[in-house]
Formats: sequence, C-alpha cells, structure tokens
Amino acid sequence: MTVLVFGKTGQVARELAHYSDVRCLDRAEADLSKPAQCGRIIRRLKPAAVINAAAYTDVDGAEQDEVLATVINGDAPAAMALACAQMGVPFVQISTDYVFDGAGSTGFAPDHKTCPLGAYGRSKRMGERGVVAAGGTYAILRTAWVFSRHGTNFLKTMLRLSETREQLSIVNDQIGGPTPAAAIAKACHAMAGGLASGSGRVGIYHFSGTPEVSWADFAAEIFAQSGRQVTTTGIPSQEYPTPAKRPLNSRLNCDSLQEQFGILRPDWRAGLDQLCADIEVI
Ligand SMILES: NC(=O)c1ccc[n+]([C@@H]2O[C@H](COP(=O)([O-])OP(=O)(O)OC[C@H]3O[C@@H](n4cnc5c(N)ncnc54)[C@H](OP(=O)(O)O)[C@@H]3O)[C@@H](O)[C@H]2O)c1
Repeated sequence: MTVLVFGKTGQVARELAHYSDVRCLDRAEADLSKPAQCGRIIRRLKPAAVINAAAYTDVDGAEQDEVLATVINGDAPAAMALACAQMGVPFVQISTDYVFDGAGSTGFAPDHKTCPLGAYGRSKRMGERGVVAAGGTYAILRTAWVFSRHGTNFLKTMLRLSETREQLSIVNDQIGGPTPAAAIAKACHAMAGGLASGSGRVGIYHFSGTPEVSWADFAAEIFAQSGRQVTTTGIPSQEYPTPAKRPLNSRLNCDSLQEQFGILRPDWRAGLDQLCADIEVI
C-alpha cells in the first residue's frame, strides 16, 4: 500500500520517509496554506492511507500569526480528512498536548475537555475538530515534547548550549514525556495500517515517552548521556517568560493506544546516548 505523508523536512516526516511504502510531500508539492490543494492531491494520487506530519509548529510565532496557523493546522487537515473520507481512505493526524490547559498532575485522557492556552493549541484543536467532522476513518495522535536528530528541538538546543555554557537554568515546573520522532513515525505508520485493515478503531489517541520528567530533568539526562559537563539549576516557568504560555502538566494517558493498536510508550532514555553522538557529527 502507498502511504501518502504531508511533510518531508520535519522531525516526524523525516522518520516516516524511511518506510518503503511511504511517499512524502514537501511544501512545494503540497502547501498547507492552500487547503483545497491538499484535498486535490489526495484525490489525484489515490493513496491507500494518508498521514499528516506537517504543521505550523512555531508555538510563540503563532501568537502573532494565528490566522496562518489556523489555516495550516486547522483548515488543511480538515480538507485532507474530507478527501480521505470521500475516498474511503484512512487518515492519521498528529496533534498535541497543547490542546489542554495543563492543569492537575495526572495524565490527560483522550476524552478530557480541551482548553488550549494559546494560538498554536487553538489552531491544532481546530484541526482535530475538522478531522472528526469529516466523518471518515481517522485517528488523531496527540503527542508531546518531540525530539530527533533533525529540526529544532530541546535536545539539539541543549547540546548546542553545552558547547559554550557550563551552567544552565532550566524550567522545572513543566512536566511531560519526551517523545522520539522515530517512535511517533512508527506509531503513525502502524495506526494507518491498523485503520486500513480494520484492526484499530477510529478515535483520538495519546502517545508520549516515559518516564515523565521536567525540562530540567530532561536536560540533566541529555548532559549525562552525552558526557557534557554542564550543571543545571531548576527554575519556575515565570522566570523564563515566552510569548505563548506553556501548559505545566503535559502528561498524557496513553492506555487506549496500547489497548486498540498494541502500541507501547517508548522509554525516551533508550538510545539517547547514540542520538547525542550522531548529532555531534552532523
Ligand atoms: N515538536 C514538538 O515538540 C511537537 C509536540 C507535540 C505535537 N507536535 C506535532 O507533531 C507533528 C510533527 O511535528 P514536527 O516536530 O515533526 O514538526 P517540525 O519539525 O516543526 O516540521 C514541521 C513540518 O511542517 C512543514 N510545514 C509547515 N508549514 C507548511 C506549509 N504551509 N505547507 C507544507 N508544509 C509545511 C514544514 O515544512 P518546511 O520545512 O517547508 O517549513 C516541516 O516539514 C505536528 O503536527 C506537530 O504539531 C509536535
């Protein structure tokens, strides 16, 4: 089967590109700021399944650019899902913990009420609603704290800062599960197959790495596994102001993904040392 993936250069898309049955579309082939074009491409290429791994992911930028973020994260996935529904093709959409307000200290279940704190979360929630409304065979996978050797992410930022800094102050009151992009790609690919074969159920699912930690804990583990001599001091979010407010609690209850698709949460610490070594040589 041919799995059509929107996105080619992003963290998750690059990992999906390793699968032999996947065809990735870059921005020049499919621009999500033109949602109708995305629907037309699906109708023309007639894939067996579609995964949307492209998005407006600049969380702070979205505060100034909510109209564009909403077209890319809201209207485009809705148009893709509608085309898929009309053709009877399964559709997998990637979403985010930022649809929640971050209250509490337990893992959000997929049916928990959404309440985004900012423009990015609102735009992603609009995408979720559009996918559900299309009424096709869909799965929405909410994930969090994505990292990989490519793109912009916390792991690469920490390794870069460690080149020049011996001490760093890192936020320690936001808690979440760092999630390798490769594990997300594997999950999305398996879900597309599961939906196509009828072995997995339509719905919203959660997927993030384990154990759940603070950004400060994540940084400390990165420095330990990469052998960098950097000491970290935990600080509250108020001492690291950003244009967009971040949820304090990004824990996701991932049980239903295991029950429906047999997909387990990855331990994000496994293989982190090798990933750090690979990033050094890039
Ligand atoms: N990163 C995280 O921590 C995180 C957390 C939770 C959920 N997510 C979700 O996970 C998914 C994958 O994220 P990621 O981290 O892999 O993304 P990423 O590395 O930031 O890459 C974003 C991708 O979207 C593409 N894109 C942006 N605007 C586009 C447009 N108008 N037309 C076509 N393509 C466009 C980019 O292409 P260009 O290179 O051409 O710009 C790039 O390939 C997204 O749905 C994101 O919302 C991410």
